[in-house]
Amino acid sequence: MKVTVVGAGNVGATVANVIAMKNFASEVVLLDIKEGVSEGKAMDMMQAAPMLGIDTTVTGVTNDYAATAGSKVVVVTSGIPRKPGMSREDLIGTNAKIVKGVVDQALQYSPTAIFIIISNPMDTMTYLTLKDTKLPRNRVLGLGGLLDSSRFKYYITAALKAAGMPATLTDVDGMVVGGHNDKTMVPLVSYAAYRGIPVTKLLSSAAIEDAVAKTKKGGATLTQLIGTSAWYAPGAAVATLVGAIVTDAKKLIPCCVYLDGEYGEHDLCIGVPVILGSKGVERIVDVKLEGEEKAAFAMSVAAARETNSLLSGALQ
Ligand code: LAC
Repeated sequence: MKVTVVGAGNVGATVANVIAMKNFASEVVLLDIKEGVSEGKAMDMMQAAPMLGIDTTVTGVTNDYAATAGSKVVVVTSGIPRKPGMSREDLIGTNAKIVKGVVDQALQYSPTAIFIIISNPMDTMTYLTLKDTKLPRNRVLGLGGLLDSSRFKYYITAALKAAGMPATLTDVDGMVVGGHNDKTMVPLVSYAAYRGIPVTKLLSSAAIEDAVAKTKKGGATLTQLIGTSAWYAPGAAVATLVGAIVTDAKKLIPCCVYLDGEYGEHDLCIGVPVILGSKGVERIVDVKLEGEEKAAFAMSVAAARETNSLLSGALQ
């Protein structure tokens, strides 16, 4: 099955590389507007293939959408990334135009593709894609919750270790819902567990609050350290979403999707648990949030709506 990744920057190239290493796609087309960059990165990946046992073909092209024809999944990473001190929302004007242009061109050549949006502010760019293309909502999703959940697991694992437990990163389960936003994402503390034991029974509230705060600014911390936004975990997260679709895995994964009554909300895209399979978003799992988590989700929804309202120009 063919997958297109638009944007051969750090995130896009890592997505293509991880997909290739996982060996589930027949071809990945990496497309960028910068002459030669995606060709070079694709060639570099293919020269690693004999050593890594990769059968996936990675093809790099400069702005040639015809080469993406017939893709099952199109990943959109295009746009300007965050610089230190910038919020994801600061990117909206520039990235709305870029995302719209990319999606329209890709759709011409892959009319049945499922679109995964990474460009920030991601929840709003996902909403823009859905409104602009008028595609059914199972075919448009955004990356947020899976990446933020993985960061949450990382910080919870660190807290467990600090509390004297020999936890490893795969011992911890947890989920982040809501917007992919430093202030309003919602790490679901009450569901987080260490091999089935709720972390609320193992960690102090101060340690949990610290892990939650670190999770929320997880992306910003990396942007500060690196000077631009992160790519290894985002790349692995996107490859996981693509893998679930291409292999029809029907996995429960938090993704940014369009709500039409679920969670009591309408007409916005935000992170909630969904079942991902060959049809894209096959089901939205509507969990009844309670107490603080319910209130935090409502705030996250309000923030996403506010960012969506900045799109009015781009939606015409
Ligand atoms: C991050 C970007 C991908 O959170 O939004 O690192």
